[in-house]
Amino acid sequence: MSELKELIQTADWKTEKHVPAIEAPDKIKKGESVKITVTIGKEIPHPNTTEHHISWAALYFLPDGEKFPYQIGRFEFGAHGESTQGPNTSTIYTSPEATCVLKTEKSGTLLAVSYCNIHGLWQNSKKIEVA
Ligand code: FE2
Repeated sequence: MSELKELIQTADWKTEKHVPAIEAPDKIKKGESVKITVTIGKEIPHPNTTEHHISWAALYFLPDGEKFPYQIGRFEFGAHGESTQGPNTSTIYTSPEATCVLKTEKSGTLLAVSYCNIHGLWQNSKKIEVA
């Protein structure tokens, strides 16, 4: 039997264009609203064409010592050049970057997953500490 967790790949986001880069402060104050940005292809751009693109990303937060993650946001990247004229003709493209705002009174780990339409699922994580 295949497990979904076995299909989610990871690597260094600086050398692997599919891995979501998570930008967030290392330390925050209790209850402070902080901006979190998830970017796919931050260092090495991922192709963005009708045939090959990042379809979506999702961001979760797992408080330290807890079992279940909270979904912070889910982001659809919907335009990849397609039009009635055919593939790569619209000149309209959504870049795979999303920002949201989180507040928490708990330290924990941000987890991001992204989906490439031909290279599957990729993940990354980042600790966030509440002072
Ligand atoms: Fe890809």
